[in-house]
Amino acid sequence: MTDTAYASEADAKNLSSTDLDFDPFLDLEEEINSLRQEKNAVILAHVYQDSEIQDIADFVGDSLDLSRKAAATDADIIVFCGVRFMAEVAKILSPGKTVILPDLEAGCSLEQSCPPDKFRIFREAHPDHIALSYINCSAEVKALSDIIVTSSNAEAIINQIPKSQPIMFAPDKYLGSFLARKTGRNMALWPGTCVVHEQFSLRELVRLKTLHPEALVVAHPECPENILREADHIGSTSSLTEFVITSDAPEFIIATEPKIIHQMEKLAPGKTFIGAPGSDGCIGCNNCPFMALNTLEKLYVALRDQTPEIQLPEKLRVAAEKPLRQMLVMSPLKAVTGTSRPRAVA
Ligand code: 13P
Ligand code: SF4
Repeated sequence: MTDTAYASEADAKNLSSTDLDFDPFLDLEEEINSLRQEKNAVILAHVYQDSEIQDIADFVGDSLDLSRKAAATDADIIVFCGVRFMAEVAKILSPGKTVILPDLEAGCSLEQSCPPDKFRIFREAHPDHIALSYINCSAEVKALSDIIVTSSNAEAIINQIPKSQPIMFAPDKYLGSFLARKTGRNMALWPGTCVVHEQFSLRELVRLKTLHPEALVVAHPECPENILREADHIGSTSSLTEFVITSDAPEFIIATEPKIIHQMEKLAPGKTFIGAPGSDGCIGCNNCPFMALNTLEKLYVALRDQTPEIQLPEKLRVAAEKPLRQMLVMSPLKAVTGTSRPRAVA
């Protein structure tokens, strides 16, 4: 149990249940639109959210884009449609705003893999190291870190750290080893993984590639190295989306959470997107169980009732803000960690 506090336990139970208190005949889009105006609220959504949430959001993006939006908004209320650590980042950077998350149970396996007390021991075991933490971690782990990174800006930030400075990285071991390979830095890694990305199957991916020889593979760096070796482009969710828009290939295999395909289809119409398979061969089935907890119905109720609200003890918020602000300072304005494999000339 972390010392993060939320408005009330009842909020969590309420919004986690399927019995939401609302009239089922309401036009939810219409209701959300008028509430958003009336309350001066902004709806931020990660690209792994349901398509109907993406479509109603004021802004859809990756973790870095969303933290920048949260820091800059002049709205009174931020409705954060993503997972809890993302909503916490919004609260840390915009403490004067009301930040609501449609379902407080929307956690993250990477965050769960890295309890703050164990992270503290890891940190103490590496006294000479600078502590870089992936944004997918708790506010407590952020508070114990020197700099936060996302998959969009991690490489650019590491390259600003003097080569003589040893680095420790938590909590994603696959992103950490990808960054170590890319930057040539030796990094002490925390052994966390993402439940979605670690489940892609190399055997099934190779089989799918033989069925779609024209398709390019794009992969998030949270994937294991054997999947990344098959990728034509590796990057954050924004970088993957940008790649499929600008590439002249007609077909892509997407090795990340499949709900991102909704944005890709909107932004690159006419192209074909196939979700990468898990070990059962199921195409596009690796959904993030945490992101899936948010629904349009919960979004409506949360905005209407302004709950459940993210609240953090001020001491914790201030301590977690420092490494996040450091990230924003060191992050290039247009941060892209995408790595493309040169295509063979026919
Ligand atoms: P991005 O920062 O690339 O959006 O990734 C967030 C995430 O949770 C990936 O699983
Ligand atoms: Fe966390 Fe993985 Fe879900 Fe991203 S996809 S929020 S890393 S569990």
